[in-house]
Parts: sequence; structure tokens; C-alpha cells
Amino acid sequence: MQVYLVGGAVRDALLGLPVKERDWVVVGATPQAMEAAGFRAVGRDFPVFLHPETHEEHALARLERKTGSGYRGFSTEFSPHVTLEEDLRRRDLTINAIAQSADGALTDPYGGLADLHARILRHVSPAFSEDPLRVLRVARFAARFAPLGFSIAPETLTLMKRMSESGELTTLSPERVWRETELALATGQPERFFSVLRASAALAQVMPELDALLQKSPQGAIATAALHVAAAAGAEGPVRWAALVGDLDENEQSALQSRLRVPNAYSELAIVTHRLSRLMNAGHHSHDHLLTDAGKLLELLESADALRRAERFEAWLGVYAARTEAAGQPVQRIAALCSRLKKAQKACAAVKLDKSELEALPGPAIAAHLRERRLQALRELK
Ligand code: CTP
Repeated sequence: MQVYLVGGAVRDALLGLPVKERDWVVVGATPQAMEAAGFRAVGRDFPVFLHPETHEEHALARLERKTGSGYRGFSTEFSPHVTLEEDLRRRDLTINAIAQSADGALTDPYGGLADLHARILRHVSPAFSEDPLRVLRVARFAARFAPLGFSIAPETLTLMKRMSESGELTTLSPERVWRETELALATGQPERFFSVLRASAALAQVMPELDALLQKSPQGAIATAALHVAAAAGAEGPVRWAALVGDLDENEQSALQSRLRVPNAYSELAIVTHRLSRLMNAGHHSHDHLLTDAGKLLELLESADALRRAERFEAWLGVYAARTEAAGQPVQRIAALCSRLKKAQKACAAVKLDKSELEALPGPAIAAHLRERRLQALRELK
């Protein structure tokens, strides 16, 4: 049997990037031979084995044929006669279809090296369209490798569009869509992920609410710019997500986020972002009144549940900063307001009623008294 390193590990090493995970393909072996060599079988749908020592994944070389719709509609064919070239051919992109043998020699039948040098994401063969997830994967690679200057081959984008228009993307499980989205949000230029999904008509299939928002002017451009600003600031995933979808209303957010089963850390921040932006914009063009109006400030902190959820409030400040910068507010003014809001949160959180105060008050009056003390603290804020 021959063993080759394949996929992301070869690609990333050639790009000079750190390699996280190594996948191997094995040619000329049977499951029995693998188990005899000490490998442990895993894989539910096709034969994958874990190396006895490194525990790295070793898959038998295989052909994949489509038998139905959706990503479960596959039959996989493996046999000791499947060649390395055949296995590489069913892969998504040419840059992911390069194999490396133990002595370092590369097998590159589909021009992956040339595309790596030319910075092109290009599909290997028409078999690309057998897996609709690949549309999202290409968008994610476009976002991740954007800083290196990668773009998508026109013929690949055309194929992606055709796949979207066939309606196949709606067969993807919400978990898989969200997984790609979450990975894409963490990249250097996450806005590229969404622009590629739009350009390939995929966003309307997997996130129609967001697609509609991004089509609106100027909201779409602002949402995209807010995501860009949040990513450039190195913000966490939930902050980036909320910066992007914060302008969707409650119903749209709820439809989108429950369908994709977006984790709470993301969805809650998006909901708070929308709620607070409505509160802050009500009747005001500028948010400067928050610098002077203690009542408004407390209302905002209460609406954000900022005293109980201090960390989430801090995250929201990041979303707020990104969104207001994207909307054209001067950065210095945003920074001043954010630092004011942070101070206000700290001052309110520091208010504690002592024992004698608590004893002197009838139960129902305690909350009102606490609120009064917090207002007092906000009025005294320097
Ligand atoms: N692959 C594919 N189609 C998919 C998923 C994977 O063709 N839908 C192939 C590609 O050759 C890919 C390899 O399987 O390189 C390994 O897949 P995976 O580990 O998911 O991705 P990587 O390319 O290694 O990228 P990442 O760095 O994101 O893990």
C-alpha cells in the first residue's frame, strides 16, 4: 500500500502557512489490510482509519458517485484498484487535490500548484457539483485566503451559481451551514464569505433574511462594512456576527438564527444589538445625549442587562463601535462614548446597599432605592 498526505495539509504547507490537521489517503489497500496493520476503523459512510500511533485520519482511495439529492445521496466506491489520480479527481478544488508522498514528491494531476501560484480557487472537475457544501467551502476559502490575493475562477463561480439555482443548497443541514459560517467569520476578511455567497446566488438559499438586508441601500453596505471593521479589530466571532446581522428586526433574526441553530453567544448578541440600536436611535440623530442624561444611560444599561451580563455588554460595545464606525461616525467620538458607557456600567455595578439601608427599607422599596442610587452614581460620573 502507498500512503500520501493530501488536502489542506499539503496546500497550507505550500502556502507557507501552519498545518493544523493532516489527512492521508491510502492506495492499494483493503480494510482488512488496514486493520491488520494496526489501524482502527472509524468512518460511517466510507472507510476511514486512525493511525495506531498518530491517530491521524487515513482514508482509502475512493471514487464518489452521486445517487440522489443532498449530501447524503452518495455511494462511495473503494477498492485497492482506485488510483491516486481518481481519488484526487473527486475533490473540490485543484489546490486541495495535490498529494505528497513520504519522500516529499508531489502528485498534482489537476494543476493545483499552478493555481496556488496564480492564487486561483478552481474546481477540479464537474464532480464538484456533487456536494452543495462546496459552494460554502469555496466562499470560506475565498475569505480565508483573501489576504494572500486569491480569487475564484470565473468557471467555478458559474458552476457555483448553477448549483445554487438548482435549489440543492437547501438540502444542507443547518449545522453544516452554520459550521462553515462560523469558520468563515473567524477569517481575516469574513465579508468576502458573504459577498461570494451573494455573487453565487447561494445566500438567498441558505440565509434569505441576510440576503435581503445586504441588498438594501445603504443598510447592506453598512452591515458589510461593520463586519469588516469588527474583523479588522480582531473581534470574536459573536461580535462579528452581530455587527453584520444587527439591523435585521426581531422576526428576521429569530427566523434566521433558529433555522441555523446559531449558538446563544452569537444570537443573543445580535438580539441585544438590535434592541439597543432601536433604543439609542429613538428620536435622536446623535448618541451624545448619553454623555449627559443619566436616566437614558441607566435605561440603556437595564435594557442590555449590563449589570448581570457584564461580559456580553463589553462584547456589545465592540459591536456598537464597529457599526457606528461603519456608518461614518468619527472614531474618536465613538471611543469617547464607549469608554463612557463602560464607566457607567462599572459605576452602577459598584453600587451596593449596605445592611442598615436594607433593614430600614420595606421590601418593595428596595429595587426603587437601588435604582435611585445607581442614577445618583451616573449623575456623579466624571
Ligand atoms: N474535500 C472535498 N469536498 C468537501 C470536503 C473535503 O473535496 N466537501 C476534500 C478536499 O480535498 C479537502 C480534503 O477533502 O482538502 C480535506 O477536507 P477538510 O479537512 O474538510 O478541509 P481542508 O481542505 O483540509 O481545509 P481546512 O483547512 O479548512 O481543514
